[in-house]
Amino acid sequence: MERTFVMVKPDGVQRRLVGEIISRFERKGLKLVALKLVQLTRDQAAQLYSVHRERPFFNDLVEFVCSAPVVAMVWEGPDVVAVARRLIGATNALQAEPGTIRGDFGVSTQMNLVHASDSPVSVARELPVVFDQQELVSYTLATEPWLGTDAS
Ligand code: CMP
Repeated sequence: MERTFVMVKPDGVQRRLVGEIISRFERKGLKLVALKLVQLTRDQAAQLYSVHRERPFFNDLVEFVCSAPVVAMVWEGPDVVAVARRLIGATNALQAEPGTIRGDFGVSTQMNLVHASDSPVSVARELPVVFDQQELVSYTLATEPWLGTDAS
């Protein structure tokens, strides 16, 4: 079963959208396997966004993402990397479709509320920046057979 790394960014936390954002993932039928409120260090933020190192917005992005707490999560489900990206919507919140998190709540590219890894390769790089392996909880949801997400 696939896993993905998701993070409610400082603007999402400051705007009290944590519950709303978690709810979008829950309602979709995805399974939460790790969750924590944390203030990232500069090093963690730079590691997380290392693919953007050469971009003009990199320093501002790192500064912003460690300026206040974030809520980091790991979600599990079939094709969850792509599913999470669709739930979140386009990076530029102005272009994000209504019904997506960014489409419903955002108007900015930098302050786009939530981050999700864009590929399994990115999950493998990003998830360990925030979570130790033992923080990922293995359990069975009673609804897993109904939702077709039974990993067994
Ligand atoms: P996120 O999905 O967290 O991944 C990289 C982040 O960089 C992105 O959301 C935006 O917050 C930010 N970003 C991407 N493009 C730009 C841009 N052109 N200007 C400012 N920030 C950007």
